[in-house]
Amino acid sequence: MANATIDTSALRHNLGIVRARAQGSRVMAVVKANAYGHGLVPVARALAQADAFAVARVEEGLALRGAGIEQPIVLLEGVFDADQRDAAAASRFDLVVHTAAQIDLLRGAAPASFKVWLKVDTGMNRLGFDPADFAAARTALGALVAVRGPVHSFTHLASADEPCNPATAAQLACFEAATRDLPGERSIANSAALLNLPAALADWVRPGLLLYGASPVPGAVGVEHGLRPAMTLRSQVIAVKRIRSGARVGYGGVWVAARPTTLAVAAIGYGDGYPRSAGAAGAVLLRGRRVPLAGRVSMDMLAIDATDVDPPVRIGEPVVLWGAGLPVEAVAAAAGAIPYELLCGISQRVAVEGR
Ligand SMILES: Cc1ncc(COP(=O)(O)O)c(C=O)c1O
Repeated sequence: MANATIDTSALRHNLGIVRARAQGSRVMAVVKANAYGHGLVPVARALAQADAFAVARVEEGLALRGAGIEQPIVLLEGVFDADQRDAAAASRFDLVVHTAAQIDLLRGAAPASFKVWLKVDTGMNRLGFDPADFAAARTALGALVAVRGPVHSFTHLASADEPCNPATAAQLACFEAATRDLPGERSIANSAALLNLPAALADWVRPGLLLYGASPVPGAVGVEHGLRPAMTLRSQVIAVKRIRSGARVGYGGVWVAARPTTLAVAAIGYGDGYPRSAGAAGAVLLRGRRVPLAGRVSMDMLAIDATDVDPPVRIGEPVVLWGAGLPVEAVAAAAGAIPYELLCGISQRVAVEGR
């Protein structure tokens, strides 16, 4: 019953905003995790003007190639065994390389199989070579016949969404020191860096969230950056009931009607990916106006306090969980979550449709 409508013109608009902010850079559109819930292949088709796509898993890249996507496809975590390496070569994927084991794996690949991005860990302490080991890794990688062209340089920022966090300047300085004067392209910026850090734009930017119209900056929403939300998540009212003052609503009975109340029950819950933790502070859009949730979100349903809706709410009316007028960022904030989690968390029960 719940469905997510994807506005493909919003995706293209958002790519235009990214391009305007990073005019000297090429755009690697990040479409991992089913394009943040928006649908991997339809999003890649909508973003045909992107210079490359980035995914986390080999399977995601194969799905893109299977659908006829011809742009470069970058595996952000690289490959982990010979089968993945050979599949990646056959599908012309570009590789991020971040461990010595991955360099060893490439020794067995055919000449000029891969464009490679060598990842330096500038302070996030997740993936990448320690800066002290970066030059040696580069030399080893550059000596392999499997590598096509120069070795390119890549890092990821831990705190780009906090413009004043000194860790970011330290990461940028570390990357600059490790890669200064090296041949090859450089890539640093995710969405937050694209917004906040002109110094991080480099040759390639790697936006994910911005393309979907949401802001990575806590407290901000995408429209403030000129973006349009690409996803509208909807369901509908399946029951309406009047309850007396003092009646308790939902699991645990934690919500108590403070007045005679009209409840509307909508057919969406955490089984669809709507966050259960939004229960206390969440709201939905009914006829374009925000109406508060009443009580805990269930697996398949949630209740809203529709007492002030006039004329009275009726069964079958559409309810918008997020989209234009109710940013996913606001729902995430009410749920103590981030918009990434909500968008990626749409379950397979939700029909995702482009328009
Ligand atoms: C290496 C890398 N680059 C870029 C991105 C895109 O991040 P965002 O959606 O914040 O733009 C991600 C996403 O997690 C990532 O892992």
